[in-house]
Amino acid sequence: MDDKEEKHSKEENAMSRRYFLEIVGGGAVLTAAVGSAVVIGQYLSPNVLREPALRFKAGLIENFSADSITLDKEQKVFIVRGKEGYFYAMSAVCTHLGCIANWKPEDGVVACPCHGSKFNKEGNVVDGPAPRSLPRFSVTLDEQGQLVVDKSVIVGEDVILKV
Ligand code: FES
Repeated sequence: MDDKEEKHSKEENAMSRRYFLEIVGGGAVLTAAVGSAVVIGQYLSPNVLREPALRFKAGLIENFSADSITLDKEQKVFIVRGKEGYFYAMSAVCTHLGCIANWKPEDGVVACPCHGSKFNKEGNVVDGPAPRSLPRFSVTLDEQGQLVVDKSVIVGEDVILKV
């Protein structure tokens, strides 16, 4: 190899090393920029819990048979339809420590799986340790025949929706 060829070979090696370092450096800068953008995006986005709305549509009245109790699992609410066709909505959250209670038709009670509390169909405690009855919520009917439950409005036992 003469001097000219050797010089040319050294220049090529220097170029390919420089090109390699430029690629690696550019990749590192890009990775740092994307990582920073993600962290800044997370910092700036609102940190809120997504919870179901307190007011919700529970379904068409014809979907509930007379003398039935239906649990809306997402809303944690029982939709109760009486023998005479009236409605009321009652919380499924046990008043002891907040477990979700279930309707046990074979026993005719709403039973809590955690510590054994039982409530009657009206939501009153029939067996402890629950300290209070299950609260009832406002139920109305919209123009489409949908039941609308509002968990922000607690009503008394005497408030029912007649249809
Ligand atoms: S949470 Fe229901 S009985 Fe304890």
